Amino acid sequence: MGEGSPFKDTVLKGKVALITGGGSGIGLEISTQFGLHGASVAIMGRRRHVLDEAVASLQSLGIQAMALEGDVRKKEDARRVVETVVNAMGRLDILVNGAAGNFLVAPEDLSPNGFKTVMDIDTLGTFTMCHAAVEYLKKGGKGKDPAEIGGLIISISALLHYGANWYQIHVAAAKAAVDSLTRSLALEWGTDYNIRCNAIAPGPIADTPGMDKLNPKESELSAEQLGIPLRRVGEKWDIAMSAVYLAAETGKYVNGHVLVVDGGSWLAKPRPISKGQLRQFGRAIEQRSRTTKLPSSKL
Ligand code: COA
Repeated sequence: MGEGSPFKDTVLKGKVALITGGGSGIGLEISTQFGLHGASVAIMGRRRHVLDEAVASLQSLGIQAMALEGDVRKKEDARRVVETVVNAMGRLDILVNGAAGNFLVAPEDLSPNGFKTVMDIDTLGTFTMCHAAVEYLKKGGKGKDPAEIGGLIISISALLHYGANWYQIHVAAAKAAVDSLTRSLALEWGTDYNIRCNAIAPGPIADTPGMDKLNPKESELSAEQLGIPLRRVGEKWDIAMSAVYLAAETGKYVNGHVLVVDGGSWLAKPRPISKGQLRQFGRAIEQRSRTTKLPSSKL
């Protein structure tokens, strides 16, 4: 966990959150911070032992937490998990789609089934969970006062599809679709059910399965080599605080937004000339380009 929170520890009091992929990495940090800010949390994942360990750690912090085994690719699992959460915790306010699949692979080495597997987890799984939860998230959903506002969906996206990235064709396509469905649901379910739908796109975040896979120890690149303007990789805390911001009163007018939390890394470009050289030669270069006569064919 990172340093202390700038939010009051009651900003999510009374809320119930379901976090897919909540047993590890960014998902577990979001679960932890939601819990520390007053929410009850349910985490969903495929590996029992990971879930058990995560729930024990949440409960040791005094958080009301439960774990549910399930695969976001299976609509019967999605329905069962959502219904179990509502039955046990009384309502559902926030769905976080954190479950994701990823591996580095060159396009020609990726089978169509490998491509489909990631689309199924990241994109279809996100839609499947949203579809199973909408009935409960909406204004007037089970367990809610009719005067209350509707719920919130946060999907964990990525930056891979901003331009292009090496060895990530499958995940880039899947997350581009996640951004698109975030905006569609923000429009349609915002209008019809008062549900807000947003995404968070993390940059390189330390101590996560994603970082282990995408920046493996064997060829680890430093923050500088990764070209991150803020010259450091992010912490899971940075992502979790963004999720708390969206879930608390602070985010009540944010709908259809993909919040990039990456220290500016996707904007990174090599510097073409040092600042010293720029100051020394900049005006001379400008002067030269003004006085150089273009050939008449280019005029
Ligand atoms: N390189 C190329 N292809 C790969 C691959 C790799 N590293 N890993 C899996 N695949 C392909 C398989 O070959 C298979 O395709 P095929 O049937 O044509 O051979 C297809 O993907 C499905 O593989 P399978 O292992 O059956 O999928 P799974 O459902 O058990 O696992 C993964 C899903 C592959 C995404 C797995 O990495 C996973 O479960 N990850 C979850 C955690 C995670 O990735 N977190 C990171 C978040 S950023």
